[in-house]
Amino acid sequence: MKDRVLSGMRPTGKLHLGNLYGALDNWIKLQDKDYERFYFVADWHALTTGFNESKDIPDNTIEMVADWLSFGLDPDKDTIFVQSLVKEHAELFLLLSMVTPVGWLERVPSYKDQIAQLGKSKTSNYGFLGYPVLMAADIIIYKAAHIPVGIDQVAHLEFTRELVRHFNASVNKDVFVEPKPLLTEVPKILGLDGRKMSKSYDNAIYLSDTEEETNKKLRTMFTDPRRKRKTDPGVAEECGIFMLHKIFTEKEKQQEIKSACANAEIGCVECKKLLSENLNSTLAPIRQKRAELLKSKDTIKDILTDGSLKAQEAAKNTLNEVKDAIFSTKRIG
Ligand code: TRP
Repeated sequence: MKDRVLSGMRPTGKLHLGNLYGALDNWIKLQDKDYERFYFVADWHALTTGFNESKDIPDNTIEMVADWLSFGLDPDKDTIFVQSLVKEHAELFLLLSMVTPVGWLERVPSYKDQIAQLGKSKTSNYGFLGYPVLMAADIIIYKAAHIPVGIDQVAHLEFTRELVRHFNASVNKDVFVEPKPLLTEVPKILGLDGRKMSKSYDNAIYLSDTEEETNKKLRTMFTDPRRKRKTDPGVAEECGIFMLHKIFTEKEKQQEIKSACANAEIGCVECKKLLSENLNSTLAPIRQKRAELLKSKDTIKDILTDGSLKAQEAAKNTLNEVKDAIFSTKRIG
C-alpha cells in the first residue's frame, strides 16, 4: 500500500493568496509524489466554534472547492471530499472519545488560546473541547502517514499521535499508525495593511478578485515604511510587495528589484505595476477556470459526492478493524 497523505480545511469561503500559496500549493506539489492523497472540507470542524454561522457552510464549501480545483487539485489524482458525507468519521470520533482523557483535551495549547480569542460563548460547547479527537479521527480513519499542515496544527498532530498509542495499547493491537506533520517552507505573505494576510483582518487579495480589483488593492498596499520618498532606500525583504514578487516574478528580475529598491532606483508605484502584471498573468487562467467551474456548481457537487464515496470505502475498512478490536470479530453491529 502506498503511504497516504491527508489534509483538510474549514469551509471559510473563498481563499486568499495566503491560503493558496501558504497551504494549497503544498497539496498540489504532492501530486508529483507517489502517495495516495485525501483532501477534505472540514465542515463539522466549522461548527465547533461557529454554530451560528452554519447557514453559510454550503456556499462556503462550493467557493472553497472551486478555488481548490481551479488552482490545481485534480479529482482524478486526489480524493476530494466532505467530512460530513463520510459518517464514519463521526463513529470513530465517538469510539475514540471513550478512551480520551479529558485532561489531555484541556491541555491542548489551542484550547486556552481560542477561549481567550473567541470568548466563552463560542467555546463553552462540548464539541469545541472534543475538537482534537475529531481531528484525530479524520486522520487515522485513513491511516494517513503524512499530514501537510501549518505550524499551528502541529500540537493537534502530537495529540493524535498520543491518542494512537493510547488506543492501540488499550485494545492491545496496532490498529492505527502515527501520522507525521509534513511541514514545508511557506512563503511569508502580508496583507494590504502590512499585517499577516487574513480574512478576519479584511486585508486580503482573493483568487475571486478581478484583475481590476486586484490592481486597485495592490495600489493601496503598504510598502517598506523606510521609503517615504522615492529617494529613500528600502529593504525589499521586508516589503509585502516584494514578498509577492518572490511568488510571481522570475528570479533574475527579483534580484534586479531588490538592488533597485536598496539603491532607491525604482519607485514603489513602478514596483507595484510590475507585480500587477506578473500576478495577473499567472492568475488569469486560474480565475477563468474558477469562473467556469462556478457556472456549473453541480459539477463541483458531483466531484465531492464521488470523492466522498471513495473516501468512505477506505474509512469503512478501518472502522471495521476498530470495531473488531473493541468488540471482537463476533460483534453484531
Ligand atoms: N484543524 C484544521 C484547521 O482548523 C482542519 C482539519 C481538520 C485538519 N481535520 C484535519 C487538517 C485533519 C489536517 C488533518 O485548519
